[in-house]
Amino acid sequence: MGWEPGWCLLLCLVLTGAAGTAIEAPKAERQWQAVDIILDCFLVIEDRHRGTFASSGNREKALLVLKQVPVPDDGSLEGITDFQGGPVAEDDPPVIFEASVDLVQIPQAEALLHADCNGKEVTCEISQYFLQTTQEANVETATWFITNLQISQAGPSVSLVMKTLKNTENGAVWHPMLNLPLSPQGTVQTAVEFQVTTDTQSQNHLLGSSASLYCGFSMAPGLDLLGVEWRLQHKGSGQLVYSWKTGQGQAKREGATLGPEQLLTAGNASLTLPGLTLKDEGAYICQITTSLYQVQQIIHLSIQAPPKVQVSLANGALLPTLICSVAGYYPLDVVVTWIREEPSGIPAQISGASFSSLRQSMAGTYSISSTVTAEPGPTGATYICQVTHISLEEPLRVSTKVVPHTEQRMVFGVIFASILFLLTLLFLGLHRQAPSPRPAKTMRHFG
Ligand SMILES: *[C@@H]1O[C@H](CO)[C@@H](O)[C@H](O)[C@H]1NC(C)=O
Repeated sequence: MGWEPGWCLLLCLVLTGAAGTAIEAPKAERQWQAVDIILDCFLVIEDRHRGTFASSGNREKALLVLKQVPVPDDGSLEGITDFQGGPVAEDDPPVIFEASVDLVQIPQAEALLHADCNGKEVTCEISQYFLQTTQEANVETATWFITNLQISQAGPSVSLVMKTLKNTENGAVWHPMLNLPLSPQGTVQTAVEFQVTTDTQSQNHLLGSSASLYCGFSMAPGLDLLGVEWRLQHKGSGQLVYSWKTGQGQAKREGATLGPEQLLTAGNASLTLPGLTLKDEGAYICQITTSLYQVQQIIHLSIQAPPKVQVSLANGALLPTLICSVAGYYPLDVVVTWIREEPSGIPAQISGASFSSLRQSMAGTYSISSTVTAEPGPTGATYICQVTHISLEEPLRVSTKVVPHTEQRMVFGVIFASILFLLTLLFLGLHRQAPSPRPAKTMRHFG
């Protein structure tokens, strides 16, 4: 769509301006201006009568226009025109959803703009939303949609429940597929009534540290918060982590907490998990239930433990053997390489290392060791054990010096001498034991 780059450019200008203002003036003095945010979406049409499988392939191009979203303004917003309707001459025009956001706050709106300009991908999917309750009197007169907006690279995720506005005009154009009346501009007009957000779709934490999983929401006046539920889904099984129902909070995982009640009623349902263990890994589902709507967000939590690396010289071996022990790491994937460096030479990776079997601790972390036979050469050499693991920003390197050949020969000399000595003793012993049938006589001879 030809007019899109222009939009992005304008939004980028808005953002650049916003950043500048943030530095110069305190937040409270910022000026805000409402602009339209336009996003490319897919409309997923699910045929309820044929079950969920019917959704395959039923994706229509759609546009979402978030109307009059407040963004920081330093004057660069001049010249921005609001959405005037979609491109007219197009063979396959998208379904255009207009959504007013007067009833709820969308804290991630700026992130949505950022994403557009930073080359991150925004996934936007709109589908029909079906009410769980039948209490609502105007079920017959309204239709609901849910929009799921996700920003790639572990970015924010936003879900919006949009209710269609009553269209009183007679003779309005109907959308054939959605069976909805359209506005004179040919758009589906809605109001956002409920939003659930997370600031990141995945998080990594160190074993033993604590995690705070953000889940925020905002709802239209007239809706009541009924419940908050955090569930953990991992390897095909699910469990309740925390549940809050009209004033009553209950932790199912030891130490799990929500913020104080004021935070919750202000729209912050973040979960704090202290003392992370590997059992805490998985997909956390934050589900917010209001008197009318129920919406979830998912945050993937991964736990990492960095390896402890030690290099030692094996005792009792004829040739010097180096052992690199890599202990207490998680997850499983680790790369251990050996590098050999002579004082005047270039470091070279060496092959032929052998590995111990993998061991797993009670806590679930892994340990392995790698062994190489060292060749010190005439001048001695430095051996480096290099470990690469996802928990490490850069590979860990532990080095050790292997003694020059002469010292090694000395070691062999000592061993040879010891063996000779032992053989001598053995020989003498045998010799002395040979006359054992007559020990007394021998003793007398020595005496
Ligand atoms: C939400 O509450 C948590 C504490 O539960 C706090 O750490 C976090 O900063 C709050 N986030 C926002 C955006 O208010």
